[in-house]
Amino acid sequence: MAPSNGLDTLGAVAAADLSRLNTFGLRARAACLVKVRSVADVRAAIATPQWSTGRRLVLGGGSNLVFTGDFDGTVLKVEIPGRRLLRVDDEGWTIEAGGGECWHDFVRWTLDQGWPGLENLSLIPGTVGAAPIQNIGAYGLELADRFESLDAVDLDTGALRMFDLAACGFGYRDSVFKRNPGRWLVSTVRFRLPRPWQPLTRYADLALELAARGCSAPEARAVSDAVIAVRRRKLPDPAEIGNAGSFFKNPVVDAERCARLLAAHPGMPHYPQASGQEKLAAGWLIEQAGWKGRSLGPVGSYSHQALVLVNHGGATGGDVQRLAQAIMADVEARFGVCLEPEPVFV
Ligand code: EPU
Repeated sequence: MAPSNGLDTLGAVAAADLSRLNTFGLRARAACLVKVRSVADVRAAIATPQWSTGRRLVLGGGSNLVFTGDFDGTVLKVEIPGRRLLRVDDEGWTIEAGGGECWHDFVRWTLDQGWPGLENLSLIPGTVGAAPIQNIGAYGLELADRFESLDAVDLDTGALRMFDLAACGFGYRDSVFKRNPGRWLVSTVRFRLPRPWQPLTRYADLALELAARGCSAPEARAVSDAVIAVRRRKLPDPAEIGNAGSFFKNPVVDAERCARLLAAHPGMPHYPQASGQEKLAAGWLIEQAGWKGRSLGPVGSYSHQALVLVNHGGATGGDVQRLAQAIMADVEARFGVCLEPEPVFV
């Protein structure tokens, strides 16, 4: 059904079901859903009165979201297509993709073209446009390491602005876009893939997988295949079991606190940071707190990776919040470490 307002020419849907549009599979409806395939579509959508007065949400692949209830505003679902090589020189390749492209298909396409550099980020769910929002990262590489610039529409004015690396304010699973929800819609992202290509295979799980495959000097596609195998083994496929990837960030603590924890728990994984602080493994803390593979109602911690919360069927955002709070309370009581959820709550 089309809503009776200025959005109907864009094929807007009223009372739209969002449960298939979030990888957690949480039940929720949006007052209005508009699929945008171009910057012109975005501008038309935000020119309507209900956009300027109501609540707003930009949706990519819905892979980093927890709906805590119905959404009584307008959802813009980004479906902007396109991918092309912009430039190639001795130092690398510059590639551009539309915000609505599927991230993993884009990564595999770059590898098929012979442009290596994104292989460690294979099989991450979501879209190209959502990737910079939380600065996706895996197996020793972050999006920021391969980023050149992006274009985003200012959702207050409709103006298109170019953001370079510095303007994005990237941090660990963080960016200026994540800190200002509803302000920007990422329409196009440009990547810089440096030459000569060098494999990044130091991450323990990846190194083990490549060794098991007998790959001592892997090509980029072999690294991608190994990443895919590790992810399939450890992480649940959202098409089969609802989840939003890592549910908590890995906490960063000062060196002194880390030393105190290590005295009590000598086997605790910890990773020194450039800042002198130490990053802890939230999955390990959750497992030690007894939550790995355990459920509370329809939501549980995944049996192969405690950091991922999964929807065993029919869960609501409230169920997810109850389990998240229980885990956070137990980890805090046991280790004095406060976990911070990673997905965006809507
Ligand atoms: N660990 C446990 N028990 C668990 C899970 C992990 O003891 O249930 C231990 C592991 O043995 C290892 C350490 O914790 O010593 C780290 O585990 P892992 O290598 O699986 O990585 P992670 O820190 O749990 C992070 C990212 C993932 C990314 C992987 C690989 C965050 C929040 N998560 O997980 O990203 O795929 O590293 O690089 O930084 C995501 O963001 O959605 C995501 C999946």
